[in-house]
Amino acid sequence: MKNIRFLGSFPSENACPATNLPEVAFVGRSNVGKSSLINYLTGRKNLAKTSGTPGKTQMINMFEVDNTWILVDLPGYGYARTSKKARERFEKMINDYLRNRQNLLVVLQLIDLRIPPQESDIERINWMGEHAVPFCIVFTKTEKITPDHLEKRVGVFRDTMLEYWSSLPPTFATSSTAKTGGENLLAYLEEIINN
Ligand code: GTP
Ligand code: MG
Repeated sequence: MKNIRFLGSFPSENACPATNLPEVAFVGRSNVGKSSLINYLTGRKNLAKTSGTPGKTQMINMFEVDNTWILVDLPGYGYARTSKKARERFEKMINDYLRNRQNLLVVLQLIDLRIPPQESDIERINWMGEHAVPFCIVFTKTEKITPDHLEKRVGVFRDTMLEYWSSLPPTFATSSTAKTGGENLLAYLEEIINN
């Protein structure tokens, strides 16, 4: 990635600029590492704002990459300490974006494997299934788990998904801190962007 252009922060899908480039959206619980993954993949340390406190990203943030595709950083869901009103606002923002965005190519659904499968994640995944939104799964913070544990937890997550789905989407294991897994994910994105 050579040229990254910040297109802006937008409060709703309606407010996002029309583009004719494919968009890749980052979706997941607050604090799962969406903004950090964007910084890791682009190699720009502070492109997307990150924070140790959940609820950092509150708008739809769009970044154009090499005049070819667009990265979309979305607010997180599932943070208990956000007010009900704010939670509903974020949920509407995410739902509207995923349902209406014409150029949405794929969603990267981020999952923190350090904790058991979360209802909010399963709900989000099943919602995308119902609305025919294409997605893949990206496990985050994997440097925090030993390879043995990682394999087991991926298995548990897969089994949980197979309770609802007959097949599984592509999955990727990443760590933005250790900078691992990014090449595989980018290779996959490149392939679907160019096809
Ligand atoms: P919201 O914008 O609040 O929805 O959160 P987010 O999903 O964008 O998470 P963000 O990227 O801001 O990261 C949340 C916290 O997780 C920060 O303290 C990051 O430093 C940390 N984090 C992100 N990626 C990794 C990782 O790969 N490993 C570890 N150990 N921590 C990470
Ligand atoms: Mg964020």
